[in-house]
Amino acid sequence: MPTNIALKARLALELPAINNALFRAVNLLPEPARPVARHILEAGGKRLRPMLLVLTARLLGRDDAKIKELAITLEMLHAATLLHDDVLDNALTRRGKPAAHTLFSVPGVILAGDALLAGANALVAEWNDSRLSLCFSQATSHTAAGEILEIASQRHVDMTAGEYEEMVRGKTAWLIRAACQMGALAAGAVAHQVEAAAAYGENVGMAFQLVDDALDFAPESVTGKPTGGDVREGKFTPPLRFYRESLNDAERLAFDAAFCGGLMTDADVAHISDSIRAAGFDVRVRQQAEAYLDVARQALEAFPDRPEREMLCQMADYVRDRNK
Ligand code: IPE
Ligand code: IPE
Ligand code: MG
Ligand code: MG
Repeated sequence: MPTNIALKARLALELPAINNALFRAVNLLPEPARPVARHILEAGGKRLRPMLLVLTARLLGRDDAKIKELAITLEMLHAATLLHDDVLDNALTRRGKPAAHTLFSVPGVILAGDALLAGANALVAEWNDSRLSLCFSQATSHTAAGEILEIASQRHVDMTAGEYEEMVRGKTAWLIRAACQMGALAAGAVAHQVEAAAAYGENVGMAFQLVDDALDFAPESVTGKPTGGDVREGKFTPPLRFYRESLNDAERLAFDAAFCGGLMTDADVAHISDSIRAAGFDVRVRQQAEAYLDVARQALEAFPDRPEREMLCQMADYVRDRNK
């Protein structure tokens, strides 16, 4: 069986317990927040962050039902950030379904996101471990800070590679890092293994967002998110940077005027998305992600040689090759 299919089959075995714990937690949220929370959680999602927490904890010796209760806090935080993100990005679809703010009111969705976040904090607090609470809190604030940086750079074509990296480390990598770090902490791992888990997660997270930026130009039928959404939203992501560099002076002037002025038409977005795919700029960005994945794989050397270590290693390949 190809590695990817074997990995997916093994992850699928974990899903029912994660989803059961998740929907039990939703039932404990304040009643007005529940329909919004159910909408985003029932729409699907890969459950990558809780999976990473469960796998890291099991790798380091903890495998009980209770670990799933911790794992779902990351999915609750993730769902809250997606609810807020789709308002910020004015995105109309998520997980192949209408984005929550198109069905419920924007204030209702923002506040349901807050309730999910508060519910997740309460579940982490039950562990009576300030290291877990601190890590969860850091993930929340770094994610928010990354989103703020992104909003500040919207419709600009002068964001440096370093600024992009800082933004992605916040908006995406920190949450994935926290999943791995909290799994290691809950397993009672020694300090250098907690650090290795954090390094693995952070680098997988960086690669994850680069691939997400490449996937932005794939068809919506594949990703469940609008094609070229980043162009429409004025996000100067790496594939778009390659595209802009490929233009002649006159074309670049026209691109900058439309992109920075928020004047991209649907036809512009479709043309740019097709051009990026035809030139392979999306593939080039996936190749860039490989540098982060190499660092992630190296971090795994700090761990015992168990099946979960192999699964985490395969997870790195999956992140590079994923199509949704
Ligand atoms: C989407 O995350 C947001 C990013 C960090 C790019 P996922 O791609 O993990 O979304 P779901 O949970 O599978 O829907
Ligand atoms: C991903 O942001 C990070 C968060 C949701 C905080 P994006 O805006 O790039 O993610 P998608 O493409 O909407 O999933
Ligand atoms: Mg978005
Ligand atoms: Mg966003």
